[in-house]
Amino acid sequence: MNPTDSQTTPRGPIGVFDSGFGGLSVLREIRRLLPQYDYLFLGDNARAPYGTRSFELVYQFTLQAVRHLFEQGCQLVILACNTASAKALRTIQQRDLPQIDPTRRVLGVIRPTAEIVGELTHSGHVGVFATPGTIQSQSYILEIRKLFPNIHVYGQACPLWVPLVENRESDGPGADYFVRKYTNALLEQSPRIDTVILGCTHYPLLLPKIRQAMPEGIQIIPQGEIVANSLADYLKRHPEMEARCTKTGTCRYLTTEEPEKFDALAHIFVNEPVASTKIVL
Ligand code: DGL
Repeated sequence: MNPTDSQTTPRGPIGVFDSGFGGLSVLREIRRLLPQYDYLFLGDNARAPYGTRSFELVYQFTLQAVRHLFEQGCQLVILACNTASAKALRTIQQRDLPQIDPTRRVLGVIRPTAEIVGELTHSGHVGVFATPGTIQSQSYILEIRKLFPNIHVYGQACPLWVPLVENRESDGPGADYFVRKYTNALLEQSPRIDTVILGCTHYPLLLPKIRQAMPEGIQIIPQGEIVANSLADYLKRHPEMEARCTKTGTCRYLTTEEPEKFDALAHIFVNEPVASTKIVL
């Protein structure tokens, strides 16, 4: 890169977007692996959950969030939300990005998760827990089958898991009931499932209860680390984008809800104090 490039190349933090808090579980793993970059997290908490909303609304909300992160200088945005990845990513990548700015990038969480499924399962039978929206979109089935045509995928919608997490009930007895309800429903679909993907970024907070409710020997896979590894790999393969990500190790948080509300729950996901700023999308 010559000196002129370094003056004109736009640079900014890596944007991380979720409908609410769940994406923080991905952000935590990304920052653990790649602490040198700057991050700007945006949670659309005022309009969460997305999991039961229509395609059109999830697309519109996600596009607004991506535009906002671009306006804040982000050159690369990760949709750390399965529902947004399932319902909005493709249209944003194919239709909107070429018009907004063809040099910026938006990446999702479903493809990187699908890519490693082949390494994980021995039986070739994989379960996916996700929001109703992600399950209806069939995104996991389509992505996994594209890469591993012989793997059978069983989806289980868990509409009450996100509200349990958002309402800080993930350790309570209500969570036991609803975790068993959906784990049993998944296992009834096939006795051969040996690997289960947590296809919603909120679900790692229910991991202890999900583990308890599943038979030993079934591996339960949260996405944070997978997405972090995939981002590290992406930045290695795309030095031009890597050069556009600023590196002072900071992390800022934006929310569409009241900051006090966001900060009170966000710190549970990231294990450190959070001081967010309210924005309007
Ligand atoms: N975090 C979102 C996901 O990964 C789910 C939360 C929601 O329904 O908004 O799908």
